[in-house]
Amino acid sequence: MKSLLVTGSCGLIGSEVATYFLKLGWRVTGVDNNFRAVFFGPEGDTRWTLSRLREFSSYHHRDLDIRDREDILDLMRDLRPGLIVHAAAQPSHDRAAAIPFLDFEVNAVGTLNLLEAARQFCAETPFVHMSTNKVYGDRPNRIPLTELETRWEYADPSFLEGIPESFSIDQSKHSIFGASKVAGDVMAQEYGRYFGMPTCCLRGGCLTGPNHSGVELHGFLSYLVRCNLEGREYKVFGYKGKQVRDNIHSEDVASFMDEFFRNPRSGEVYNLGGGKSNSCSILEAFRMVEELSGKPQRWSYVEQNRSGDHICYYSDLRKMKAHYPAWDITRPLGNIFHEIVESWSRRLVPAHSK
Ligand SMILES: NC(=O)c1ccc[n+]([C@@H]2O[C@H](COP(=O)([O-])OP(=O)(O)OC[C@H]3O[C@@H](n4cnc5c(N)ncnc54)[C@H](O)[C@@H]3O)[C@@H](O)[C@H]2O)c1
Repeated sequence: MKSLLVTGSCGLIGSEVATYFLKLGWRVTGVDNNFRAVFFGPEGDTRWTLSRLREFSSYHHRDLDIRDREDILDLMRDLRPGLIVHAAAQPSHDRAAAIPFLDFEVNAVGTLNLLEAARQFCAETPFVHMSTNKVYGDRPNRIPLTELETRWEYADPSFLEGIPESFSIDQSKHSIFGASKVAGDVMAQEYGRYFGMPTCCLRGGCLTGPNHSGVELHGFLSYLVRCNLEGREYKVFGYKGKQVRDNIHSEDVASFMDEFFRNPRSGEVYNLGGGKSNSCSILEAFRMVEELSGKPQRWSYVEQNRSGDHICYYSDLRKMKAHYPAWDITRPLGNIFHEIVESWSRRLVPAHSK
């Protein structure tokens, strides 16, 4: 039986990846200590996801902290998995500034703990590291833009397909979170280049899906939909609400990992997002969710943008598609919205009316 070790198994990406491979008949060991509830409070609690994963008999949960080097070494020594997906993280841009040591210990040192344990006990195992487009810092904001009615758009034709992996990660403002993710990203590349291990970094755009526990500081679409359904006000920070994000369904993320497992490369980097066709601005997202739910979106505007936040970002998917021609986006934006609305509608039903 093929075996997967996935860290952050109760988070958005980890749980989707776990479910995807469980359905393919793999044995999956998930590591998650519910730190999301520590970072974001009760709304970030992921225990509901753990109960869902436990419905699969080939899912095995380990309540470990990736910061604990000895525990991670023991785990890797016991398991020697066939694929490692590292998706445990402190994932929020904004939260990191208040908890810089914890953020770095989880995102940078935790990643190193996993890479080194893998090198010692299963160096041939493909290792997928979940990185982020925040490693580019605010450098994408230096690209000249055109202001359209509902969104910003690149004015420089060299970025018509989006941001490529050759874009510099240096000399820009990353946020504390972006900097700790750069450390993990470069380390994962180095374990590929220096030690020859089959590692890759996936620099995610907005990774989303129906299983996300979106909160204000992390999980843009999921949180936006939740606000709409509950009639809560959504706060827009700067850029006139025209800031653009590319959205990719987490199942398309998992299917890419499957492709990488079959055909691993070493020290690679891919920008993994929905690409131009799955991009939308916040204003456009409001319109899409209103059409689906029939409810008006309440929102307010804060003039100050979030520090280092991208004005317009969408991924150039051409390198991924060239290296892995069998892979493509299977969920267009409309389907993603539909699934998130449907999922929140189910989850938000008050207990007494179930
Ligand atoms: N969701 C996105 O839009 C997005 C975009 C770009 C990159 N990413 C990257 O993908 C990865 C996963 O993101 P996500 O959206 O699934 O985040 P998430 O918060 O939903 O999941 C992360 C999981 O890791 C767990 N965790 C945190 N610290 C831990 C620790 N010390 N030990 C064990 N478990 C721990 C949390 O409890 C949580 O369940 C992150 O590296 C993130 O930076 C996500």
